Amino acid sequence: MIVKYNAKISGTGRYLPEKILTNKDLEKIVDTSDEWIVTRTGMKERRIAADDQAASDLAYEASLQAIQSSPIRSKDIDMIICATISADHAFPSTACIVQQKLGLKNFPAFDISAGCTGWVYAANIAKQYIENGAAENILVIGVETLSKITNYEDRNTCVLFGDGAGATIISRAEAKDISQLIDADISADGTHNELLIQRAGGSRMPASQKTVKENLHTVQMEGNKIFKLAVKSMYQACHTVLKRNHMDMQSIDWLITHQANMRIIQALGNKLKIDEKKVIVNIEKYANTSAATIPIALDEAIRNNKIRHGDIVLLASFGAGLTSGSLLFRL
Ligand code: ACO
Repeated sequence: MIVKYNAKISGTGRYLPEKILTNKDLEKIVDTSDEWIVTRTGMKERRIAADDQAASDLAYEASLQAIQSSPIRSKDIDMIICATISADHAFPSTACIVQQKLGLKNFPAFDISAGCTGWVYAANIAKQYIENGAAENILVIGVETLSKITNYEDRNTCVLFGDGAGATIISRAEAKDISQLIDADISADGTHNELLIQRAGGSRMPASQKTVKENLHTVQMEGNKIFKLAVKSMYQACHTVLKRNHMDMQSIDWLITHQANMRIIQALGNKLKIDEKKVIVNIEKYANTSAATIPIALDEAIRNNKIRHGDIVLLASFGAGLTSGSLLFRL
């Protein structure tokens, strides 16, 4: 592809629902303990969307913040990409609903499904559109309402997930800008597609009374198999972008990985040999919000004045598919 322009992050925002579900609360629902959840995952609490809150409601709030924090106005947005596996509906896309909520129309808006790597996939797609000149300001959202597709009788999964949204504006950079999306690498290994799955509700297993009774519309996961693949695939994605850009971990100011398990974050940090002070973690507060973990953590770190203009940031994620990816940028 001929790169005409550079892309940069020009705004970020997040929204977390008010309701907090703590480990102690979960002790009352399934056979688990605060001690098990904290030592095995690092999670202490997670946010849960209200009954009347769908993915687009969370995404809209995060998007307003992202627009507010950027120099652009909502009318300058010329594309919306929404990464989610817990959309408002199978169709229309959540991106189209967010477009309507923002009072915008007449430009492309679409969802992508790449599990927890969704926002990294979406940011990489946005990067291409900015670089080839086809768009100037793209709203890239990662949003999940996983509580709506979680089986609260299954302790293997229900302790892990939370709801939330992160939004980012990816814009054309000016020639004088130091901010830039430097490189991204996305991949998938579909041989593992059954390890993390919502079995029913699609064309393979249409919704029926039987599927509802057997809880087949909820997230099913073989967690320990994914665990083993997670570190390897994220390490590979990080290594690829660093090598391609003749950089090493010494050049990286901050690492943000998908917040699926504290032990996975630590294992990746150790393998990459990065100082743990440079690793952004918020898993204790929000648990695994799938496609939303990275844009939420990014926004939080920017607003807390950790990540500053000019810093070099490496993002890495993995998720259902199994997908994986990394994004390297200077803020
Ligand atoms: N409370 C108490 N005990 C539990 C719980 C719980 N909530 N959940 C599982 N256990 C038990 C199991 O039943 C098992 O008991 P057994 O030995 O008697 O059979 C024991 O704990 C160990 O189970 P494991 O699954 O081996 O535990 P592990 O240390 O692997 O931790 C976990 C499980 C947290 C799920 C971990 O494997 C993990 O984080 N995996 C990765 C998950 C992930 O990253 N998913 C992809 C992203 S999510 C997305 O894309 C939407």
